[in-house]
Amino acid sequence: MKSKVKRFGILTGGGDCPGLNAVLVGAVRKAISLNHKIVGIRRGWAGMIEKDVMRLDRDAVSGILHRGGTMLRTSRTNPCKSKGDIQKVKKDYRELKLDGLICVGGDDTLGAAYKLFQEGLNTIGVPKTIDNDLSGTDRTFGFDTAVNIATEAIDRLHTTAESHDRVLVVELMGRHAGWIALHAGLAGGADVIMIPEVEMTMKEVCDIIKQRHKRGRDFSIVAVAEGASLGGDFVSKEYPRDEFGHVRLGGLGGIISEEIEKRTGFETRTVVLGHLQRGGTPTAYDRYLGLWFGARAVELADAGEFGKMVGLRGTKFVAVDLRRVKKLRTVDPKQYEAARIFFG
Ligand code: F6P
Repeated sequence: MKSKVKRFGILTGGGDCPGLNAVLVGAVRKAISLNHKIVGIRRGWAGMIEKDVMRLDRDAVSGILHRGGTMLRTSRTNPCKSKGDIQKVKKDYRELKLDGLICVGGDDTLGAAYKLFQEGLNTIGVPKTIDNDLSGTDRTFGFDTAVNIATEAIDRLHTTAESHDRVLVVELMGRHAGWIALHAGLAGGADVIMIPEVEMTMKEVCDIIKQRHKRGRDFSIVAVAEGASLGGDFVSKEYPRDEFGHVRLGGLGGIISEEIEKRTGFETRTVVLGHLQRGGTPTAYDRYLGLWFGARAVELADAGEFGKMVGLRGTKFVAVDLRRVKKLRTVDPKQYEAARIFFG
């Protein structure tokens, strides 16, 4: 007997991330192989509130695998901020005749996917974020690309810092977790790495730099995660919060830079890498991960395993409870402490 053709929706929410298009290719190709249909929901949860959809067939996803961004577009719309929006999402879900909805996103998007699952929708999650801070998976796609971009930037900063005998502070993304700063900082040979999980005082930072300069090195590189703390709150910009209540981060690198110059007397400059870490071509690894995450999400949907997220454990793809993404996965302070041997 022929099995029923199912219709799954897919959306990409939150900040964009290299590898999103690969997820779409993986999901569409898997759906085709199972004789199911995929509907693209545009601009994240906004598309589920406004019923903004597009065709997603083999032709639609042809030629996008290597491209950054997301062909579906994205938004930081929170579908659960009002009862009215939740009702609209439910109504559109019914009218679109969906058998399941694949939600590709970070903690906010997946948190909403979990709430809507509790409201009776068949949601499935795919873990996306350059920050790599989601529980239930060893890796999120996009992280590898961000680390490579940040490492290349640190490499480039070395030569200019050395030529001018300067300290260069590079501010990297990472709101709650310092994965990008730690990985790129170590790979790029940064002299100091500052992350949100472990507080470092300016005295400690400056002592490392001073000692290095005493040893005859006339330049230093400091890699700092935007969410790192100097004992107070986040350093943020004066903008309205987004729909999930997040402040816009940025500016910590500049503050650290001024403080280093004041305390050490070494000329110091700042570079904020910002969205360069998110834009452009995904690495081979992020494309690979994206393809399989997309394909596995459709497999879960086909098997009726809703309320789950695809995760990576070692080299195996697993299904984990969506509820688990509520807790962020941060750098183990012990791992950070061990890395101090590479500082200076
Ligand atoms: O995707 C997460 C993240 O990269 C955070 O590290 C950063 O604070 C945030 O996105 C910035 O996103 P946007 O500028 O798009 O709001």
